Amino acid sequence: MLKKLKPLYFALDFQTGDEALDFLERHHLTGIPVKVGMELFYKEGPSIIHRLKENGHEIFLDLKLHDIPETVRRAMRGLASMNIDVVNVHAQGGEEMMRSAKLGLEEGAQDHVPILLAVTILTSSDQKMLEEELLIDHPLTDVVKHYGTRADKCGVDGVVCSVEEAEIIKKHTALAALTPGIRLPGGEKHDQKRVATPEKARENGSDAMVVGRAIRDAEKPGEMYRKIKEAFQHESINTHP
Ligand code: C5P
Repeated sequence: MLKKLKPLYFALDFQTGDEALDFLERHHLTGIPVKVGMELFYKEGPSIIHRLKENGHEIFLDLKLHDIPETVRRAMRGLASMNIDVVNVHAQGGEEMMRSAKLGLEEGAQDHVPILLAVTILTSSDQKMLEEELLIDHPLTDVVKHYGTRADKCGVDGVVCSVEEAEIIKKHTALAALTPGIRLPGGEKHDQKRVATPEKARENGSDAMVVGRAIRDAEKPGEMYRKIKEAFQHESINTHP
C-alpha cells in the first residue's frame, strides 16, 4: 500500500548521525518526518536509518539515483529493504530507468512500497545554467513540465520541483509535488536560486516541503519547524478577509 507524503520533511544536513540525533532531541523534534541526504547517508550508512526508525521518524532518503536502469533497479531493491518511506531518482535518467526504479522498490519492499519521487531540475539551477552548461535550449518551466509528464507514465508517485513549477506539475500531471527551496521572507537564499515562502508553496499546490537550513540554522529550530509547518497548512487570515 502506498503511503502519503507528510507536509514537511526536515533535511538532516548534518555531518554525523550523533550530531543529527542530538539536534532533534535538543529541539524536541524527535519523531518528525526527516530527509536523509547524501552527506549523512554516505558517512553513516544504513545504521542512521535504523536509528531514526527506532525514534519513530518517517524517512525520505534523498540519494537522487541516476544510473543505468538495471543498476538503479538493484539499488532500489536494497534501499526498499531498509523500510524507508520516500526515495528519489533524477528524471533525467529517462523513462526506462524510472520504471526500473519502481520495479526495484516493489521487489525489495518490506511492509510498504516506498513513495518514488523524480527530481526535475534542481532548485540550485536556473535558465542560464541549463543553456550554458547543459545545452538545454527550452524554458526551464517547459523542461520541468516535460520531465513531469514523462515521470507520470512510469509509475513515479511525485516530483521534486521548485515552488514556481509546482503549479504546472499539478495542472498537467497526477503527481504529487514536493518542493525544496523554502525560505521565510527576508531569509538567506544560500546556494538556492528558485526560492519561495511556505504560503506561496501552498498557494501553488505543493503537497509537501523539504526545509533544511531555515530550520537548522534558526535561533529556535523547534519553533521555526512549527512556524513553517503552520504557515504551509493554514490559510492566512489575509487571504479571506
Ligand atoms: O537548506 P535548504 O532548505 O536549502 O535544503 C534543501 C534540501 O533539499 C537540501 O538537503 C537539498 O539537498 C535538498 N534538495 C534541493 N533541491 C532539490 C532536491 C533536494 O534543495 N531539487
